[in-house]
Amino acid sequence: MSEEEKKKISYSGMQATGMLHLGNYLGALKNWIPMHDEYECFYGVMDLHSLTVRQDPPQFRKTAKSLYVQYVAAGLDPEKNCVYFQSHVDAHPYLSWILSCFTYMGELSRMTQYKAKSEQHADNVNAGLFTYPVLMAADILLYQATVVPVGNDQKQHVEIARDIAQRFNSIYGDVFTVPEPVFGKNARRVMSLADPEKKMSKSDENQNATVFLLDDRDTIIRKFKRAKTDSGSEIIYSSEKPGIMNLMDIYASVTGKSNEEIEKEFSGKGYGDFKMAVGEAVSDALSGVKNRYDDLMKNMDYIERCIKENNEKARYVSGRTLSKVRRKVGLTDIL
Ligand code: TYM
Repeated sequence: MSEEEKKKISYSGMQATGMLHLGNYLGALKNWIPMHDEYECFYGVMDLHSLTVRQDPPQFRKTAKSLYVQYVAAGLDPEKNCVYFQSHVDAHPYLSWILSCFTYMGELSRMTQYKAKSEQHADNVNAGLFTYPVLMAADILLYQATVVPVGNDQKQHVEIARDIAQRFNSIYGDVFTVPEPVFGKNARRVMSLADPEKKMSKSDENQNATVFLLDDRDTIIRKFKRAKTDSGSEIIYSSEKPGIMNLMDIYASVTGKSNEEIEKEFSGKGYGDFKMAVGEAVSDALSGVKNRYDDLMKNMDYIERCIKENNEKARYVSGRTLSKVRRKVGLTDIL
């Protein structure tokens, strides 16, 4: 294949903490699945990023592997996508160090996630939490990614990766592809079912706030039935109805229906009917994920083979960028 015919690169990943939830799935993972037709795709289990928060080592090892299996169970094909472990590729922390010398304290302190996380973990505001976006920039830039499919909350991090790439290129020439964040049509920011003003997250203490990828059908429907809705009774997409807006976004994302179609479908019906329909549609969309997950967990040989092969590929591709960077900044040759 000639240079011009080469596919563009898609790069993304998730932290290896806890189980994946509906926000991770609709905001990111679901959009990754069909991309390999058009892009060469690299998706990481971002276990180095997870170390910014204290982990229990045996549990952490299990969670990180489980994340890989959840990716595959949800439909991400590890034979068509390079799905690998960030911590198995030394180029990531290596480039992160170099890029940290091209990143300003001021820009890092403006990151909203840093501000939020340092409040959340006030007893452990470590330097890793602060330089987190630099490691993320290294992840993306090592693979020369053109697009980074993420949920809305990661937009600022991809933008700083762009800034770092442009700054580096302006000094050393065209070393990095400048990446762009890309988002799905709906569900860019899935909100908590218990409080639609808050983002859905893994660590929510309210059991009903978050739908997990591996929840069973009854649990999913029960969580949607209990979802917090707004005053009034009409199903309309309006910022005055954040609860209904969130449910409509989720429903649109799993059914492919437009807001107008949804409003029509539920005209004259109440919140109860709508919540039931969203619960059923989400459990239909996730049906099979849990069974595939259980089967794959019994066949770790296959998963381990995929991890090994993809790690190799990731090392090769990232190694090429790292060599170029080493040369450009003037580090001596490795003999
Ligand atoms: P993380 O692990 O917090 O989230 C993984 C992906 O899920 C998306 N997401 C959501 N989308 C919609 N609604 C929500 N409620 C919701 N919650 C999470 C996130 O936007 C993300 O796409 N820093 C990243 C991981 C990372 C990364 C990277 C991503 C490390 N290196 C390089 C892209 C490229 C993170 O913490 O995502």
